[in-house]
Amino acid sequence: MNLLLLGPPGAGKGTQAQRLMAHFEIPQLSTGEMLRAAVAEGSDLGKQAKIIMEAGELVPDGLMIGLISARIGQADCAKGFILDGFPRTTAQAEALDVMLDKKKLALDKVIHIVVDEEALIERIIGRYSCANCAAGYHDQFQQPICKDVCDQCGGENFSRRKDDNRETVQSRLKTYREQTAPIIPHYESDGRLVAIDGMAEIVSVGDEILAHF
Ligand code: AP5
Repeated sequence: MNLLLLGPPGAGKGTQAQRLMAHFEIPQLSTGEMLRAAVAEGSDLGKQAKIIMEAGELVPDGLMIGLISARIGQADCAKGFILDGFPRTTAQAEALDVMLDKKKLALDKVIHIVVDEEALIERIIGRYSCANCAAGYHDQFQQPICKDVCDQCGGENFSRRKDDNRETVQSRLKTYREQTAPIIPHYESDGRLVAIDGMAEIVSVGDEILAHF
């Protein structure tokens, strides 16, 4: 099962990827997570990506295409994968088609999470995650069962993303509108695109997605 999650920053791609991973037992390939890991390592890619990400812009296509092509070839993707954050430009979408063709693979479904832009800033500014296992939470919408204790690993340290501030979010939304939203028709034309109401509660959004399988 090869899936693609599409939607603006804060739409809930990462949140729903967690549920899909557990359901289908396939990995989430989040290019944002890969880049944040490269930044934390201080690799050449990370040094280049850091400035771009903090400005809310996009890392060059060539780098991202190479990164995802290598990742899809890894053993844990043999049963399938969930793309989250890639493709983000027309060039990336076209490169993905070529890449999948060469590997004799195809996307089974493209899930477009549709949300009102006004809700996104609140979602992003309130987001945080466990510093130990990266489980995601929100100040208002997704709190741990025990205050300040991670539900998944019991960790007590949490962190917020550097690009989750009001100014960078505005820039990320603009980048999405200009460079990523135009790829949606690419997937609409062949009937694989499923539009999901991302304004419902987290569990309901997940149920609606799974109802399409
Ligand atoms: P990336 O990490 O991909 O960030 P993004 O696309 O901006 O997406 P987010 O992670 O912010 O949002 P999400 O949809 O996953 O929302 P979430 O589920 O967390 O990319 C970061 C940067 O890396 C980019 O800006 C770019 O610079 C670079 N980059 C990455 N990929 C690239 C590529 N391919 N090419 C070039 N550059 C690239 O939800 C948000 C919050 O809302 C959470 O707290 C959650 O609890 C809450 N929430 C979720 N669903 C609901 C709901 N239904 N109701 C209420 N709250 C909800």
